[in-house]
Amino acid sequence: MELVAQDLRRSYGPLTVLDGVSLRIGRGEIVAILGPSGCGKSTLLRLLGGLERPDSGRVLTAGEAPAGSLSPLAYVFQDFALAPWRTVAGNVALPLEHLAMPADERRARVADALARVGLDDFAASLSAPALRRHEAAPPSPARSSSIRRSS
Ligand SMILES: Nc1ncnc2c1ncn2[C@@H]1O[C@H](COP(=O)(O)OP(=O)(O)O)[C@@H](O)[C@H]1O
Ligand SMILES: [Mg+2]
Repeated sequence: MELVAQDLRRSYGPLTVLDGVSLRIGRGEIVAILGPSGCGKSTLLRLLGGLERPDSGRVLTAGEAPAGSLSPLAYVFQDFALAPWRTVAGNVALPLEHLAMPADERRARVADALARVGLDDFAASLSAPALRRHEAAPPSPARSSSIRRSS
């Protein structure tokens, strides 16, 4: 699968953060976006991840996502954006809750994602205390990996 950005522009009020940004990330490529604080790295990632729309330009994916794998695009937040009142499993379930999906399937996906990052023992724990006590990997990568292609 390829990820393509075409001529992206994004402003916040009078501040133009991105203008004329184009890039193509090929299959299997690992890309780091470098720049000083405030130059627009997070803005670009939000556009690439579909969390925000550009004012103009577009983001495209081309080709097949790896078979049976994660969603074509998953976004891992810098600060993990956990809901501290939810359990670990509840945090991982969050992106699935707006999808029409039987509760059994949602539970199975959450269990699978937690098992893959070794957090299955902490499913019912509150997220923040569980992380502090056990210094375990945070559930955010598990949350991303709970989103799979629907086909
Ligand atoms: N939602 C927003 N509203 C207003 N200004 C924003 C918003 N998001 C980012 N900015 C501004 O856009 C610029 C780029 O921010 P950002 O993409 O977070 O940069 P970076 O990740 O490279 O540090 C900064 O000046 C920031 O203050
Ligand atoms: Mg940033």
